[in-house]
Amino acid sequence: MKSFAAALAGTLLASVANAVPAHKQTAPFLTLIGNQTWVIGNGVWNMTQGPKYGVELYYKNRDCVGDAWGHYVSYNGAANDLAWTSAKIVKKGKHKGVPFIDAMFTADEGDMHWVIFEGQHGAYQYFVNHNLPDLGEFRTLWRLDNVTFPNGRTVSKDGVLPPLSDYVDANKVFDETWSAPDGKGYLTKYDWSSWIRTQDYYGVYGAEVGSWYINPGKDYYNGNHAKQELMVHRESKTGDAVQLNMIHGTHFAAESPDAFPDGKMWGPWLWYLNDGSKSDAKARAKKEFAAWPYPWLDDEAYHARGKVSGRLMLSDGRPAAKAAVFLGDNKPTKTTLGMGSTYYYTTYADDKGNFEFPDVRAAAYGLQAWSNGAPIADVSTSFLRNDVSVAKGQTTKLGALAWSLSNRTRLFQVGDFDHYSYGFLHGGAPYENGLVASCPADLVYRIGRSKPADWCFGQTHRGNWTIEFSVPEATAAAAAAPRAPNLIVSLAGYSAGANSTVWANGHRIGNMTSGSPQLKNDPSVYRSATAAGEWRLLEFPFDAALLREGINTVTFQLTGNTTWRGFMWDSIILEW
Ligand SMILES: *[C@@H]1O[C@H](CO)[C@@H](O)[C@H](O)[C@H]1NC(C)=O
Ligand SMILES: *[C@@H]1O[C@H](CO)[C@@H](O)[C@H](O)[C@H]1NC(C)=O
Ligand SMILES: *[C@@H]1O[C@H](CO)[C@@H](O)[C@H](O)[C@H]1NC(C)=O
Ligand SMILES: *[C@@H]1O[C@H](CO)[C@@H](O)[C@H](O)[C@H]1NC(C)=O
Ligand SMILES: *[C@@H]1O[C@H](CO)[C@@H](O)[C@H](O)[C@H]1NC(C)=O
Ligand SMILES: *[C@@H]1O[C@H](CO)[C@@H](O)[C@H](O)[C@H]1NC(C)=O
Ligand SMILES: *[C@@H]1O[C@H](CO)[C@@H](O)[C@H](O)[C@H]1NC(C)=O
Ligand SMILES: *[C@@H]1O[C@H](CO)[C@@H](O)[C@H](O)[C@H]1NC(C)=O
Repeated sequence: MKSFAAALAGTLLASVANAVPAHKQTAPFLTLIGNQTWVIGNGVWNMTQGPKYGVELYYKNRDCVGDAWGHYVSYNGAANDLAWTSAKIVKKGKHKGVPFIDAMFTADEGDMHWVIFEGQHGAYQYFVNHNLPDLGEFRTLWRLDNVTFPNGRTVSKDGVLPPLSDYVDANKVFDETWSAPDGKGYLTKYDWSSWIRTQDYYGVYGAEVGSWYINPGKDYYNGNHAKQELMVHRESKTGDAVQLNMIHGTHFAAESPDAFPDGKMWGPWLWYLNDGSKSDAKARAKKEFAAWPYPWLDDEAYHARGKVSGRLMLSDGRPAAKAAVFLGDNKPTKTTLGMGSTYYYTTYADDKGNFEFPDVRAAAYGLQAWSNGAPIADVSTSFLRNDVSVAKGQTTKLGALAWSLSNRTRLFQVGDFDHYSYGFLHGGAPYENGLVASCPADLVYRIGRSKPADWCFGQTHRGNWTIEFSVPEATAAAAAAPRAPNLIVSLAGYSAGANSTVWANGHRIGNMTSGSPQLKNDPSVYRSATAAGEWRLLEFPFDAALLREGINTVTFQLTGNTTWRGFMWDSIILEW
């Protein structure tokens, strides 16, 4: 059947067009075909939507779902797949002369919209909340035919999804992780994770068909610049090719469920179908990013947007060059990665500390900023300005913003302060389960002699990681100034199940204990992440009398360990 169609293509196009059955429509449509069963689509594709699952996705003369589960919307894992009770066309319109419909499927929790243009390969989709519970995970997804879609592509990874036959029951290690059949390494869906906010296009594809998500705008996602999520994978029970649209997720964050206001809108994003070409998907993504916010959407709040600009200046006179800048909850009670009720904006300052957020939804925000590494990788403080108010069609000019630095003298710094493990051994390596176990149990880092790559990105084995540093000869001026040593520990992530004692010259100055308020579990370390999970800042002030002229040590003694759990480092700073 497939080869027959392929043979026809190109040579007999006209007669194929004539052979289209009379009931096949080219205009976009929504047709009720049975109790809680509808067909949506246009002349290019169509999908049968049942009470929960969208099946029989016809495109390019094949059913792209086949034996797989198809399309659905769900929250909190697979526990809650939304059930559609009714559907209707809520808008018929034209944009740039092309007719479209907005087909809305209603569930108790909210409405899923498919905006289908005539001749469009795919559809825009968005979801409007009415009654979702407080939750961590909310997603739309496609589970597609695994013959048509053998490969996956994200900005971090591109290649063949490991076949189901490689997932051998006897080799299961833990949650969605198996030893590879050849004994070399592991198979896990988490190796296919990536950064949400830098995705251009991602999806699953084969030699003849590609199914992609293109999410411009991104303000409806939870979290900050460092937000990572699962993107594509092989379903380990059924073998389906999975294309996940994690519009709210916590796979790499310390769990913090969010409550959503009635009307919170996720999307629209584009679900794009093509012939499997990545260059075509990339070109399409470029167009979509330029076209956002989408003018064809009828929604006043969506279009009520303004700009925010300002210049971040450090208290020592330097501009906060390249800083990460974030617009989120006003008067925050959550971390920037943990926020997710409404809309969130991320950008970076330029070399002069200037930043601008275009197209921000009108509301009051809290503006936050932190070092994103060079040239301000020494900066350990963060910036917060509340009550940044954005109005439709206006620019909120914040002008020069003063970012206060610590004024203590620095004795040492290990690693760039940027909230990531970059620079350390394996820091930022491709996602790989168990890589952290290759970091040593013991190491000594000598300030002035060692380089960042002599420190490893994660500590999970019992042992001592010691920093040797020298304290200068006491001068009369220094002796007169009161000294108050403060050890600053910046963690790029932490997975619960490892305990440490912190020492200065053999004197205990604190601990980093699993389950303490600052060390709640984030799954980054045991889910293949190598650059970040949830950022934490810990401080250990101690008595100046513990330091002496000459060589001194600070030690992180890991006393209790669990496989692949522990500390992912960002930076360690001692000042006094
Ligand atoms: C859906 O597409 C298939 C394959 O092109 C076609 O046979 C069928 O008629 C279409 N369904 C509708 C309702 O247009
Ligand atoms: C329609 O289907 C739903 C379940 O899919 C069922 O609960 C309901 O009774 C059905 N209604 C009719 C009129 O058949
Ligand atoms: C595709 O799914 C089928 C089950 O529907 C499974 O038997 C097969 O192994 C899967 N193929 C791959 C490449 O994983
Ligand atoms: C450090 O000194 C600068 C300049 O005097 C000041 O603006 C800043 O607030 C000081 N930082 C702290 C933490 O006191
Ligand atoms: C705990 O650390 C010890 C010493 O470094 C190591 O031998 C052991 O394998 C680790 N145990 C686990 C469960 O990772
Ligand atoms: C680890 O460091 C602590 C603190 O300095 C020390 O008490 C302990 O003996 C060290 N352990 C080893 C094996 O060196
Ligand atoms: C860790 O330090 C905190 C703060 O000093 C202290 O309250 C706690 O008891 C310590 N926990 C352990 C296990 O030593
Ligand atoms: C870490 O410390 C906590 C609190 O003392 C304890 O409950 C837990 O069992 C320890 N974990 C390990 C792996 O040692």
